[in-house]
Amino acid sequence: MNIPFLDLKAQYRSIKSEIEAKISEVISSQRFILGPEVEALEKELAAYCGVKYAVGVSSGSDALLSSLMALGIEPGDEVVTTPFTFFATAGAVARLRAKPVFCDIEEQSCNIDPTQLAHLLVQRIENQQNSKVKALIPVHLYGQCAEMEAIMDLAHKYDLFVVEDAAQAVGSEYLTRQGIKKAGSIGHLNILSFFPSKNLGGYGDGGLVLTNDEAMAAKLRMMRVHGSKDKYLYEFIGGNFRLDALQAAVLRVKFRHLEDWLKKRKEKAAYYDQLFKESRLAEKGFALPPQPIYKDSGINNYHTYHQYVIRAQARNQLQAFLKERGISTAVYYPLPLHLQKCFSYLGYKVGDFPQSEKASSQVLALPIYPELTQDQQDYIVASIKDFYFKK
Ligand SMILES: Cc1ncc(COP(=O)(O)O)c(C=O)c1O
Repeated sequence: MNIPFLDLKAQYRSIKSEIEAKISEVISSQRFILGPEVEALEKELAAYCGVKYAVGVSSGSDALLSSLMALGIEPGDEVVTTPFTFFATAGAVARLRAKPVFCDIEEQSCNIDPTQLAHLLVQRIENQQNSKVKALIPVHLYGQCAEMEAIMDLAHKYDLFVVEDAAQAVGSEYLTRQGIKKAGSIGHLNILSFFPSKNLGGYGDGGLVLTNDEAMAAKLRMMRVHGSKDKYLYEFIGGNFRLDALQAAVLRVKFRHLEDWLKKRKEKAAYYDQLFKESRLAEKGFALPPQPIYKDSGINNYHTYHQYVIRAQARNQLQAFLKERGISTAVYYPLPLHLQKCFSYLGYKVGDFPQSEKASSQVLALPIYPELTQDQQDYIVASIKDFYFKK
């Protein structure tokens, strides 16, 4: 059996006629830059995520960069985030010559650890004269929200901005004191990515900034056209951070299917959970993704399984074994950011963030997508059992 890690062609086959009709509508209109499709997508996603404003931009990376620019992050400012994330989270900080400051993750969720974050902020803010810490970027890794309540409490205490990196978590939910909220609706400026493999992915790059702050939304709308509101007059220096109309049109078609696709992802994850629990893999140091909590709270999308990530002993050997069996898997991420060459100037070393380092040696993302069949999942789990028990 051959099981791809992700099967976007199967998804395309299921929506081909809708997509092609929409693309040809945009081409007939010859409106490719911003315009009605982008505006409509912004409205639809703002409503879905539960915020007042959404600003379509060129990628998730540019959503982070333009958000930090809009917040006025400057050279020398410090922005605290996790080292166990995609490069862009910290890359956006460094591109502004601000300093990424890393805080380790919780073992279970792989998201930033609020207890360690609290300690770090005491050291960086309370124990220092001129604190440079300006913002926090929690990442909702794999589709599960970071502990936003604790993070927002710290942000209020120290007067910091929060930029939720919800690139992997469109539609995920989190239980706050005010009730259930969607990923991207809790921080000040929050971002989504529409990279093709994301749960809501375009046919190219794209991203979105979500906010309840009207002035920030207006600033971002200028930021994405070089800092201009009136043609050829520039109030500040922005960039070309626009979302293409064609991408917006594709995303609007796909958005109609999003809840159904998320439901199917959760079903696939539950089926993996069941199969793995019936196995004796826990004895082999094999761990499942965090299980849904708050079962009776009405929360629906506790985890949207952008990735279904297990923790495995002998991970690299397991991955190679599965490949021989025709099963593609992926490692997000093999080297935490504090150990990346490009960040060596920050002065971190091996051992600084033990949970992130351990996670990078153990995590393995298994195929998960709405079109994945039970037979395929049975085969994947049987192959994993063979690796541990038949060797
Ligand atoms: C956590 C995280 N942040 C930021 C990004 C950047 O998004 P994009 O690839 O759209 O630039 C990604 C996407 O890969 C991501 O996973």
